Amino acid sequence: MVDIIVTIINSIVFVFPALVANAAPVFLGRGSRYNRPIDGGRFWKDDKRILGDGKTIRGFLGGTLSGIVTCVAIVILFSNVNYPIVIISRFNKGILYPFLQFMADNFILQAILIGFLLGCGALLGDLAGSFIKRRSGLKRGESFLFMDQLGFLLTALLLIYPVAPWPIEWGILLLPLTLGLHMVLNFLGYLIGIQEVPL
Ligand code: CTP
Ligand code: MG
Repeated sequence: MVDIIVTIINSIVFVFPALVANAAPVFLGRGSRYNRPIDGGRFWKDDKRILGDGKTIRGFLGGTLSGIVTCVAIVILFSNVNYPIVIISRFNKGILYPFLQFMADNFILQAILIGFLLGCGALLGDLAGSFIKRRSGLKRGESFLFMDQLGFLLTALLLIYPVAPWPIEWGILLLPLTLGLHMVLNFLGYLIGIQEVPL
């Protein structure tokens, strides 16, 4: 029982930078400067927007940056309380490790790289999701069950794998955990008026 709780906590800590990166644009996307849509307002061959107004440059860059900041904060915090830093403990197991050995002793550098891959991975999945939504005729903000909640997680997990591979049980646990967490947060966002749809 204790084992499973530890595994759940470790898996959530591992992807936490991706969760923050995915949620941050809701708060960062507003305001006028750099708030241009990534697709520049352009349309795809089907005469629908490529991505839509919900995907801004500020949201993308701010989200990625918040993933990096979160990851660095986790590493600093956890090394101070002496809890094993799961993010870092996966680092020397990656297939790309031979190329990354130069940062083997620098936890902060590792955290920056891992935070970047998790954050950017999450935001790329989010963009891919919007692209698919526009092609399916869904307007900005309309929900697409499972893709909205899990798309960003899958791309973040994919991008981080070569640098910090995760055990399969983490992946399996994270699917229902993220789905549940996303729905609860989204509903709270709807109640306070920052999300347009309840799910
Ligand atoms: N956001 C942003 N830039 C991004 C991603 C999100 O500015 N790259 C901001 C937008 O204000 C967006 C909000 O975060 O409306 C919520 O994000 P999301 O739910 O992913 O976008 P939707 O508006 O629902 O658009 P879509 O239908 O394309 O998913
Ligand atoms: Mg949405």
